[in-house]
Amino acid sequence: MKRFIISLYYFFLLFVKVSICLRVVGISVPSLKQRGESVTLTCDYDLEGGKLYSVKWYRDNEEFYRYMPRLRPPQHAHKLDGVKVDLEKSSARRVHLRELTLKSRGIYRCEVSEEAPSFHSAQAETFMEIYYFPKENPRIVGHERSYVVHEPLDVNCTSAKAFPPPELQWHINGLKVTEKSWLTNFEAKPAAQGLMVSSLGLRAPAKHLMKIRCTASIGTHRRERTVAIETSNANRRKTTSINLTLTLMNCIIFKLIS
Ligand SMILES: *[C@@H]1O[C@H](CO)[C@@H](O)[C@H](O)[C@H]1NC(C)=O
Ligand SMILES: *[C@@H]1O[C@H](CO)[C@@H](O)[C@H](O)[C@H]1NC(C)=O
Repeated sequence: MKRFIISLYYFFLLFVKVSICLRVVGISVPSLKQRGESVTLTCDYDLEGGKLYSVKWYRDNEEFYRYMPRLRPPQHAHKLDGVKVDLEKSSARRVHLRELTLKSRGIYRCEVSEEAPSFHSAQAETFMEIYYFPKENPRIVGHERSYVVHEPLDVNCTSAKAFPPPELQWHINGLKVTEKSWLTNFEAKPAAQGLMVSSLGLRAPAKHLMKIRCTASIGTHRRERTVAIETSNANRRKTTSINLTLTLMNCIIFKLIS
């Protein structure tokens, strides 16, 4: 019984606290968007009986949209680089942005205020990243010449321009290259429009019938290119002689065992 009264007490405490306070229940901003896309940001609030005074939206502390029901019209948008508000699709609880650019990335915050006498205000914020996926497959250079078997390759893979810089990875005959000494990481280089280009070198020893694949990925988005490595005739003779030596050794070992 005592326990029940205590929990009842806490329930009322919670209830009372909630009922006198304006709450922003949630803000929904997609964490990843692509350049050129549109997005609807929503701000869910609970006035708990109070009257709405204003809803204001900010990106990195700069206001770009406000909704004030007392005003005619109630909506107003401020110009901000990378933020194009579509007023027709925006309201007291949502704001619609068109044609996102890389400059649209940032922390989005909605701030809700109540009218007198309470003047309560509440806010919520979240980050939105803008992605630009590469439009082409990565390029590979250095595979045009032929290699002698065991000679280290000198090939580079370069992504198309993108943001953020794509993560590059090499595969040899379908197997991911994890040997660090075979990989040369080059710093991502800036490209036009704030985009970036990544490069990764492969210095693995050449082998017969070698296919190398380079993949450029941003999240789950992937682009790739595969090329064959040509090995010169000289090394085929070498391989044959190694094979002969191995065969001979096998014979000797077999003889010794038997
Ligand atoms: C790979 O990139 C590095 C650094 O830019 C360069 O020194 C090297 O010559 C490149 N290799 C090929 C085959 O282009
Ligand atoms: C060497 O031996 C392997 C397996 O025994 C064989 O697959 C390969 O074709 C041989 N290489 C040459 C150049 O004969």
